[in-house]
Amino acid sequence: MDDRPIGIFDSGVGGLTGLKALLRLLPGEDYVFFADTGRMPYGPRPQEELRAIALQDMDCLASFGVKAILSACGTISSAAHRELETYPIPAFGVLHPAVAAMAAVGGDAPLGVIATSASIESGQFTLPLRALCPGREIVGLACPEFAPMIEAGHIAPDDPVLREAVARALAPLRGKELGALLLGCTHYGVIEAAIRFELGDVPLLSAADCGAAALAEHLSAHGMTNGRADGGSTRFLISSDPAPFDAFASRYLEIGPVRAERVPVMEL
Ligand code: DGL
Repeated sequence: MDDRPIGIFDSGVGGLTGLKALLRLLPGEDYVFFADTGRMPYGPRPQEELRAIALQDMDCLASFGVKAILSACGTISSAAHRELETYPIPAFGVLHPAVAAMAAVGGDAPLGVIATSASIESGQFTLPLRALCPGREIVGLACPEFAPMIEAGHIAPDDPVLREAVARALAPLRGKELGALLLGCTHYGVIEAAIRFELGDVPLLSAADCGAAALAEHLSAHGMTNGRADGGSTRFLISSDPAPFDAFASRYLEIGPVRAERVPVMEL
């Protein structure tokens, strides 16, 4: 048994998809959620910078006494998977569990991955998938517009700006008859309905859900849960204006009012 909170971080509201999954799996835990909105988007940043950000974000959560960390961010999880693996507190990303879940999708239809530019250009999602699924077509597609657009509040499935951007970005996948599409950026879970509208009923896999499940499994297997069945609390930290985040988080997580505490933007 371990009563300390679980830390989660992302560049913004995308990480809430990971928190939502954890709240479902481990509702009795306490959480500290850090939205680094002062430095969002992470997606266009070079790999070296992303690794430095990963360490800073984890150090920030570690200062709150967390027992484990979820990098609820595909970009950080792929660029900094080694930093996560060697961090002194157990730290989980979404990359490995998501790749494993995709590789387990049956059949021989092509598999798709959509994520940020950093995640797709690094090949961290697509290369291991190609190795695990020889002969199967693996399509990686960067959707750099999505995360900033979501952060700016274009999330309603019928939002015309969102609809147009989704149609434009996903055009290369139309007619591909994918066996599954991985939402490799955690922000994309927020616009799942718009993605479904564009692609029909292709099975969508959420990298955030996969990462949350891996963390929950680890805590249970190592006797590290706090043993409570429900009633945990969540503390929110944010590195820019909390108002839009607070409103969205409260609605999306279906919890009472959220009041994120402002923390300074960390210097690289
Ligand atoms: N939610 C993040 C991800 O999963 C980061 C998006 C961004 O800041 O560009 O990649």
